[in-house]
Amino acid sequence: MPRPKLLVLNGPNLGILGRREPGVYGRLTLSELNARVEAQADLLGFDCDFRQHDGEGELVAALNHADEEGFVGIIFNPGAYTHYSIALLDAVAACAAPVIEVHLSNIFAREPFRRRSVTAKAATGFIAGLGANAYELAVQAIARLLSEESTTHKSTTHDKSTTHA
Ligand code: DQA
Repeated sequence: MPRPKLLVLNGPNLGILGRREPGVYGRLTLSELNARVEAQADLLGFDCDFRQHDGEGELVAALNHADEEGFVGIIFNPGAYTHYSIALLDAVAACAAPVIEVHLSNIFAREPFRRRSVTAKAATGFIAGLGANAYELAVQAIARLLSEESTTHKSTTHDKSTTHA
């Protein structure tokens, strides 16, 4: 029996984690981070598909295809696009699966231009400032959302039908 799948999607400059500003983002490489997420997902009964794209269009495409590819939840770090990409806001809003936006750093404690997330307006939830833990906590959050949904038979917990004004 195939297990439910999560999409773990990372945006620009996250492919060079480990050597990228380690004082801000830590020394874990993306492969090491993914291994931690995979272990957490495995414990909770999920398989994971890990993708990283530097380009906005590739991230939009990954989100646009996520439902038809059967992902039950999406963990998304949009990188710098977080702060200005309406295209990614729209792509997140169009996902039926819950999307948890994650950031390694606490974007609200950084430079003024990083202190807002355009994309989080359409996300189901948001976790930032906890380093790599954010991704593992996002796996746990998705597991809870899905189990609440299956016990209550409601999908109000991540209803995206409202406007984002
Ligand atoms: C980031 C925060 C963004 O401001 C930055 O551009 C990144 C990483 C984070 O995970 O803390 O690329 O998304």
